[in-house]
This record gives sequence, structure tokens and C-alpha cells, in this order.
Amino acid sequence: MQYNIPKGVFDVLPGGEDWNRSEYWQYVESIMRDVAHIYGFHEIRTPIFEKTELFVRAVGEVTDVVSKEMYTFMDKGDRSMSLRPEGTAPVIRSFVENNLSNVPGLHKYYYIGPMFRYERPQSGRYRQFHHFGAEAIGNGSPEQDVEIIDMLWQLYHRLGLKNLTVMINSVGDEESRKRYKEALSEYLKQHFEALSPESQHRFSKNILRILDSKDPKDQKVLSGAPQLLDYLNEECKDHFNKVLELLKSLKLPFVVNHKLVRGLDYYNKTVFEITIEELGAQNAIVGGGRYDGLVSALGGKNLPSIGFATGIERLLQTLCKQNVFFPPAPHPFVFIIPVDQLTYQYCFDLLVRLRHAGVHAEMDLSVRKMTQNLQMANHLGAEYALILGENELNSKKFNLKRLATRETLEIPEDALVEQLLHLAQNARKN
Ligand code: HAM
Repeated sequence: MQYNIPKGVFDVLPGGEDWNRSEYWQYVESIMRDVAHIYGFHEIRTPIFEKTELFVRAVGEVTDVVSKEMYTFMDKGDRSMSLRPEGTAPVIRSFVENNLSNVPGLHKYYYIGPMFRYERPQSGRYRQFHHFGAEAIGNGSPEQDVEIIDMLWQLYHRLGLKNLTVMINSVGDEESRKRYKEALSEYLKQHFEALSPESQHRFSKNILRILDSKDPKDQKVLSGAPQLLDYLNEECKDHFNKVLELLKSLKLPFVVNHKLVRGLDYYNKTVFEITIEELGAQNAIVGGGRYDGLVSALGGKNLPSIGFATGIERLLQTLCKQNVFFPPAPHPFVFIIPVDQLTYQYCFDLLVRLRHAGVHAEMDLSVRKMTQNLQMANHLGAEYALILGENELNSKKFNLKRLATRETLEIPEDALVEQLLHLAQNARKN
């Protein structure tokens, strides 16, 4: 009986040239960690499931994520649990529960890990996908918003990503949103029949989400709708203008998109997404924004916060489409080839000694013919082959063959490990 992978998920595999190649994942994750550390963010790891109530409270009961997409189950103790659909709520839950606000220092955290949403699978949309997310807790300044966006920009720049557009908006505070929702509701009531069925449904459930409908019918109605920015109070307006000013001074290109409201309920003030042409319909590579009320809503202090999460699948798919450079995958430095059964044991011992000394050494343990061994050494991209027969063992002089140039180096047995280590270290430096 053979089993197939469930719908909407994928394996990450070594080798190949596609976005699900594990070496590409490792590379991208290493750059993410490096950029996070340069910007002063520290890693936080939370469980992949939490009490369902956390997401209902933090993300919002009427959001698509909570109402339609969560993997929710009762555990054996009859408690409702959900696989995390996003990382912000768990990070804030952990921050409050572990009293991290009392730990001296800046409260900036990052995470890399799987998220789960029961969505209709399509290109760029999976049921298990991965986030690199960052959350900066405790600072309400516009500079903090720009630090977050600049960090993302640096990440994408380091990876060589092109054709990015930063879309930015302000969804104001609760009071501004309330006034805006009333005005929007007044306007949409007059055009209700012209809205798509999905937007008609959202009208009473989550009216702001109508704004980011891509349906042409809705777009037509929305072209005459009141604008959220006109309903912001002075404080929110000033904050937003300062963010835009700072982005300009850093020469970070952006587009103000009045219709950007995001699909999660915790946001206030700045919200943003970065989109990429190549991704088609699911073109957002990252989403984020301010959530000044979330820490206190989850039982903590009143601490303004902002963060983002970038989808690693979409990021890797775009990097592959844009043919960006990925560093070569690790390959053996030396491939050891026993000429016959007699030298096999010696070769195996040498393999172990080299590895213990820190040399990336490889050997085919299934004892094959010389030509097959050489083919394997080439296939794996080994720098050197070390072919050992009785002659070499008797003379105690070994020939190290450089596979790319076919030149050989003669090395005495007692200097072999040391010399290979030296060569490998030099190769790493170059
Ligand atoms: P989000 O916009 O729901 O935000 O997700 C962020 C990113 O995750 C999206 O822009 C997209 O790249 C990726 N993504 C979302 N759903 C899927 C899926 N089904 N398959 C593949 N990729 C997907 C959040 O989750 C917020 N927690 C971000 C945040 C952090 N805001 C503040 N801090």
C-alpha cells in the first residue's frame, strides 16, 4: 500500500532546482536569521497548537482565518485546540504569560515555522505554509514602523528579489474606524444590489473586508466609496504622515493603497503588504502592521506593537522564477574509493577519522566497482577522489586526485588527515 501526501501540503526535498529544495530553504532561513539579528530581533518558538480561544480573541471571530480556515480539534481532555493559523497571537500570549515585559532590553522577537489554514489549495496557497515573522513590542513611534519595513526590504534585497511594491495604509484607531464604518455602511447600503454575493455577506459580518475585494463589480461600487484616510483623527494622521516621510527619506519606494485593510482584526494605524508581480492572484509576499491593543487584550500591559510575517513558499517561488543566485549545496570534499574488499576496512576507518577531524568525506558503503564509484564522486560534486589499493597501503603513499582538473597530489599516509584538513579549510576560505 502506497500513501499520498494530503492536499495542500508539500515535501521539502534535497536536490532538484525547484522552490521546495531543502538547500534553498536552509539558505533563505539563514539569511532571515542573520537579518533579524542585525536588526536586534531574538528568536522565539511557540507551540504549533494553542487553545482555540486565543485565535478567536486575537485574530477575530468573523475573520476568514478564524471562521473558515482553522484546523480545530478537541483533545483527549475535551479542550478545543487549533493548529496556529498565524504567529502573532501565540507570540503575544507567550510574551504576557512569561512576563517578558519585565526582562530588561528591547522586546523584539522573530520566528520561523509552519502555520496552518484550511484554504482552497492553489498556486501560492497551502494548508501548511511557513512564516518568517517578526514582532516589535513596546514602541509606538513611526520609526518603529519604518524599522520593520526597512528590515523586510533588506531581507529581500539580500536575497536578490526584484519587482517589489510596498503597499501601505493606515486603518486608524478604533474610534476612527467606527466613524468610517458608519459612512461606508451608509454608502454601500445604496449600492447593495450591485455588490458581489461575497461582499453582500461581508456587509453585516466584516464590512471593511469589502474594500479589498478583487471582484470587478465591487471595485466599481468602491470607486465612489468614502476613503478611510479621511476619517482618521489627527494623531493617526500625523503618525501615518511621519511614517511616509521616513520611508521617503530612506528612499524606500511605496504606494499608499486606501483599500488595504488586511484580513486579521487586531490591526490599528499602519498596515502594509509587499506584493510581487510574478505571483499572480496570491501576490502578497508579506503582510503586517501595528496592533497597539493586542497585548492588553490578551491580559498584558498597554504596549503598542508592530510586526510582519512573510510567506516562505511565496518568497522561494518568486526567487526561483526570478532566477536569483542560490549558493551551491554542500558537497563532499573527498570521496574515498577502495579498490577491493581488502582495502575496504582501511578506507572505512579513514572515512571516520577524516570526519572526526572535520573534513566532509564520503564513501559508498555498498562496495561498488571503481567506475561506479568515480561516477558517484562526480555526481556528488566531490573536490577530490582518494583511490586506495594494496599498493598504496604497502607504500604508505596516497594519490589524491582533483576531479575537476585530474591533477594528482602524492601525500604520505601519516600526513593525510592533516593535509586534507588544511586543503579543505583553504577551499572554504576561497
Ligand atoms: P497574513 O497576511 O495572514 O498575516 O500572512 C502573511 C503572509 O503569509 C502572506 O502575505 C502570505 O505571503 C503568506 N500566506 C498566508 N496564507 C498563506 C497560505 N495559505 N499559503 C501560503 N502562504 C500564505 C499574518 O499572518 C500576520 N500574523 C502578520 C503579522 C505579524 N502582522 C503583525 N505581525
